[in-house]
Amino acid sequence: MMIFLLFSSFLMSTGYAQDAAVMPAIVSSTASPEIETMIDTPAFLNSATDSQRKEYIELEGNPNLTMEMKQKALTNWALRCGNPVNGLYTMYMAEKQTLQEQEDQRMSVIVAQLSPEAQQADKHVRGITSNLNQTKKEMDTNVAKQLKKLPKKVYYELTFATQ
Ligand SMILES: *[C@@H]1O[C@H](CO)[C@@H](O)[C@H](O)[C@H]1NC(C)=O
Ligand SMILES: *[C@@H]1O[C@H](CO)[C@@H](O)[C@H](O)[C@H]1NC(C)=O
Repeated sequence: MMIFLLFSSFLMSTGYAQDAAVMPAIVSSTASPEIETMIDTPAFLNSATDSQRKEYIELEGNPNLTMEMKQKALTNWALRCGNPVNGLYTMYMAEKQTLQEQEDQRMSVIVAQLSPEAQQADKHVRGITSNLNQTKKEMDTNVAKQLKKLPKKVYYELTFATQ
């Protein structure tokens, strides 16, 4: 249960490109809790010891770390765990990045069909979400601020299109 809870937030908040790509989607297509809890605990966590898992959960759940710091801390955590955790973690992150790139491409195709205003707004939001030198909360706040500045028409165009 704890792992599931952790893992939901994990899915939402780790990864390099993850946040970047889910971006316009931030407003819309965040996966539902039902879907998240159906996703299996990743192999690297299953093969970690209880104390390693605990450490991982604390790092992952620390709201004060910038995304870059968290990424580095998790990479170091995996290195300290050694194999098989480290190898499985590396594979997991690579797979996640691949999925993220596919999602980025999908979004690019969609956004390319929008009005110039919505495309510009999307670019601004991506500029924010690609900055890993901020905590997840700071990023969400900055994205929300940016979206709030948009004319309603553009806001709706962007959020509906990226749903
Ligand atoms: C995060 O920062 C707040 C405020 O400085 C602090 O109270 C809290 O203990 C910190 N949390 C962690 C997990 O470090
Ligand atoms: C990261 O952000 C902080 C605060 O916003 C800033 O002072 C610092 O220069 C930034 N560091 C990098 C490497 O961009």
